Amino acid sequence: MLALGIETSCDETGIALYDSEAGVLGEALHSQVDLHALYGGVVPELASRDHIRRIVPLAREALAQAGRGLGDIDLIAYTEGPGLAGALLVGASVAAGLGIALSRPVVGIHHLEGHLLSPLLADPRPAFPFVALLVSGGHTQLMAVEGVGRYALLGETVDDAAGEAFDKTASLLGLAYPGGSALSRLAAQGDAKRFAFPRPMIAANGLDFSFSGLKTAALHCVRKHALDDRLRADVAASFQAAVVDVLAAKCLRALEETGMERLVVAGGVGANTALRDRLARETARAGASVYFPPPRLCTDNGAMIAFAATMRYRDAPAGSAGFGVRPRWDLAAIGEA
Ligand code: KG4
Ligand code: ZN
Repeated sequence: MLALGIETSCDETGIALYDSEAGVLGEALHSQVDLHALYGGVVPELASRDHIRRIVPLAREALAQAGRGLGDIDLIAYTEGPGLAGALLVGASVAAGLGIALSRPVVGIHHLEGHLLSPLLADPRPAFPFVALLVSGGHTQLMAVEGVGRYALLGETVDDAAGEAFDKTASLLGLAYPGGSALSRLAAQGDAKRFAFPRPMIAANGLDFSFSGLKTAALHCVRKHALDDRLRADVAASFQAAVVDVLAAKCLRALEETGMERLVVAGGVGANTALRDRLARETARAGASVYFPPPRLCTDNGAMIAFAATMRYRDAPAGSAGFGVRPRWDLAAIGEA
């Protein structure tokens, strides 16, 4: 079965063709990072307009890469939510239009389900069950993944996402948006012990996170001192150490509480080397293993949407989802009308 996947929930237009026998045959992606950098965050209206501009050329590119035509597509999948309403509508409209034109079923996919199942596209492929840490600019969640459609939320951020905290602190240090990766490069030259930033909720029972207090602590620190290169590097290192401590502690607790032995890290912050090194060490010590799928699968992309759709369709080959988006959609409510 050949599925076309369309992802337009935020600031990336992602299109892919996934074949249930042969795997990913074509992938095309456009990131709007440069478009929004000027504003220090995603501007929804600009995002929608850019998706409109990119989506058809990207679909052509993915088809050409796969050496397939529109008539070869068996199933059309799009991100139904959650995300920016206008951005989601672009993907939903193209999916619905193609569904009608080609007489093919159209499946709406939950964006987080795409993320949760995307590690299965990587090599090595983690077996079920596993704990997933989704850690990006928009999400910070720990989920227990038992199988397709069987997800339990273990914990999530009560305020900012970890990537958002990275980006806000980076901006404080004069780094361009999104500054997470620049901040981590700066941190490599700093003293992580210079500032004892809070480790929010690290000792609290439960698996929820909080990052807004940490970001504020960094702000107060920067205001109190003269912002020279030494200070910038030390704030970056101390901030990163606090985030890594909290994420690692909660991941290990999640493995312990669920009794699971595999941890999968998805999302842009998963590219952070300090986090990777720490999780690799601590999971090994706990007799567990950690999987870091390649960044192109961890960040927003069309392949995860096409893949999730083939898994869903295999289990329930129903008709079309119709035309709709759900900008706010709790993963726990998946399957409900
Ligand atoms: O998954 P992703 O590409 O997209 C969305 O959030 O939609 O994640 C992007 C986030 C940004 O906040 C970015 O600053 C952060 O991931 N990020 C990093 C690193 N690379 C990207 N944060 C910390 N360290 C990194 N090396
Ligand atoms: Zn995402």
